[in-house]
Amino acid sequence: MNRIYLIVIAAAIGLAGCQEKHTASASGSNSKIDHRVDSLLVLMTLEEKVGQLTLFTSDYDVTGPTIRENYKEDIKAGKVGAIFNAFGADYTRKLQEIAVKETRLHIPLLFGYDVIHGHRTIFPIPLGESASWDLAAMEQSARIAAEEASAEGLHWTFAPMCDIARDPRWGRMAEGAGEDTYLGSRIAEARVKGFQGKGIGELDAVLACVKHFAAYGAVQAGRDYHTTDMSDRVLREVYLPPYKAAVDAGAATVMTSFNELNGIPASGNKYLMTDILRKEWNFTGFVVTDYTSIMEMIPHGIAEDTASAAALALEAGVDMDMQAGFYNDALGKLVKEGKLKESLIDDAVRRILQKKFELGLFEDPYRFSNEEREKTTVMKKEFLDAARDGARKSIVLLKNDKNILPLSKSIKRLAVIGPMADARREMIGSWSAAGDWKKAVTILEGIKAAVSPGTQVLYAKGSNINDDSTKYLAQAIQTAKQADVVVLTVGEAALMTGEAASRASLNLPGIQQRLVEEIQKTGKPVVVVLSNGRPLTINWIDQHISSVVETWFLGTQAGHAIADVLFGDYNPAGKLTVTFPRSVGQIPLFYNMKNTGRPMDPNNKYTSKYLDESNEPLYPFGYGLSYTTFSYGDVVLDKNKISQQEEVKVTCKVTNSGKLAGEEVVQLYIRDLVGSVTRPVKELRNFQKILLQPGESKDVTFTLTQQDLSFYRKDMSFGVEPGKFEVYIGGNSRDVKKAAFVLQ
Ligand code: BGC
Repeated sequence: MNRIYLIVIAAAIGLAGCQEKHTASASGSNSKIDHRVDSLLVLMTLEEKVGQLTLFTSDYDVTGPTIRENYKEDIKAGKVGAIFNAFGADYTRKLQEIAVKETRLHIPLLFGYDVIHGHRTIFPIPLGESASWDLAAMEQSARIAAEEASAEGLHWTFAPMCDIARDPRWGRMAEGAGEDTYLGSRIAEARVKGFQGKGIGELDAVLACVKHFAAYGAVQAGRDYHTTDMSDRVLREVYLPPYKAAVDAGAATVMTSFNELNGIPASGNKYLMTDILRKEWNFTGFVVTDYTSIMEMIPHGIAEDTASAAALALEAGVDMDMQAGFYNDALGKLVKEGKLKESLIDDAVRRILQKKFELGLFEDPYRFSNEEREKTTVMKKEFLDAARDGARKSIVLLKNDKNILPLSKSIKRLAVIGPMADARREMIGSWSAAGDWKKAVTILEGIKAAVSPGTQVLYAKGSNINDDSTKYLAQAIQTAKQADVVVLTVGEAALMTGEAASRASLNLPGIQQRLVEEIQKTGKPVVVVLSNGRPLTINWIDQHISSVVETWFLGTQAGHAIADVLFGDYNPAGKLTVTFPRSVGQIPLFYNMKNTGRPMDPNNKYTSKYLDESNEPLYPFGYGLSYTTFSYGDVVLDKNKISQQEEVKVTCKVTNSGKLAGEEVVQLYIRDLVGSVTRPVKELRNFQKILLQPGESKDVTFTLTQQDLSFYRKDMSFGVEPGKFEVYIGGNSRDVKKAAFVLQ
């Protein structure tokens, strides 16, 4: 290339050693960067612009078809702006060199990856982590993930997943924060803050990506990639707030979802990508498709061919095409034929280049690919400690009727039985990024490391996770018979949750139910330890086993965290963020349902219920026990009547009525009794996690604001309506104390 030309480009875009601070403001506005983006844009050919709108996978793992194997040639040809599934300081540097040295304009690549619950040090799956109700811990786990990922050359994570999920058949429930809009919104903010740290441009920050926009969690019948159809009211009230909270927290990018929403696939949905996201929410970052979803608009039946799908997506407001290659194939031609405005392409390119400038890639395209930092950062001791702490905080004690737990460390013979006990691969769960499952601590190892030298730990597999073989059963029964106590580990394989992992049955897979029944028959004290990524229908276990512990997939330190809880080194405090149904037929079952005109009355047939199943969940939203007990006093309000400008202070005395120090998640719910549209029977509005010593009491006070009492009224305006409200406080959504006030 001509030397003078190079100098002109360098001057225009500021390549010449510009040392300005990279960090951009949360709004993304930075006029100096805008100027540099525009200066670069004028130099670009139409093909180069479209290249910036294209994201291809490298040859690492993929979740769909690898459209192009020759992606390195595409980089050279300036046809690619970003690469995903490539990580590691060395590898990203090599790929970056192709873009920087061999393309005409030397525009650096952006490297993205699914860093969902840790990068190398793996934390609990997001659904599990949400059960900690510990926002600071969740922010910290995202922070650690970003530190590790950014040290390995990554600039961008495809997280947080903000899809509200009310249907446990949908395997992707594991990736989110559960069923509740309020809690989901707070967690979405925490995760964005964690990933983006002190700001884009800092060496340890990665761009967050809010996904999957929108309403992917509501796919019909819980079947992945299926159809979503819902009212605008439900969309705005239940599903949109967590995405919006993430955008308001400064998330740099948004990913579309695979599903259609009310007849329009998300990647061609202008209402979502332009009207709501950009116009209503003022989002200034860029939008990427989920995988080949532009291409998928053809089988959806909304686009006839490559060109119409590409035009539909761009015109809807989608900036970057992940993996389909449709933008590359069609946009240039459409502009040349006068069928598409080039200014739309320019806008999309601007938004993407802006992020590359904010990241400081034009000053130093290799600044994140630093082998030295990679070595000293990845899986350091403090990260592993945080992963263990986050893991034990995520554990939910579902039952402990006979107080078998916590176990003594000097039990003589402890049997650890079941297919999850030594299942190292399963511990890190699905979407475990660059996590090395071989480094995970198994339940068996965690237990062995915790017990006293005099304890004999016996082990039997009992069954495989998901087949009908009974070959391990007899030995497991024998082992149980020899033991004083049995820890029975059962659950799902990690990949039975996550993407493309919908289930029509929520029973324990394979012969595990039989295994539990056989072990229970031995008459030995049994503690069931569950590993799973969604609620399971475990009625039999609930009825017959006195101690049950929900451990999800807890990550690298799983075994140690589980042992911490089993032996009482940590008093469990997790609470379910998703309702456990009694049977699949009850689904969708969630706590904030409507009352109906015929609320359930056991003595009246013609009320809203089943002939063959209770309406009640097995375990309600917000539920979880501790090794101590908590009692709740009356709910006291500072006013019984408020005007439309006023707030109400709600107080409840919570007492640790047991013998151990423990933490409790105190939950505040409201109900608006009469509205211009019907309101849910309960809605979470706040919570506090408190630590109480035995016998200690604390007055827990919440302030209910007008915002907390607002909803989308009959005319879809958002605000309050006068009338009576009930306020509930409790340790779960079912067992609550109540008070009432009037909004005048
Ligand atoms: C998933 C996304 C993910 C993307 C890239 C898709 O199949 O739906 O959640 O970010 O792949 O790996």
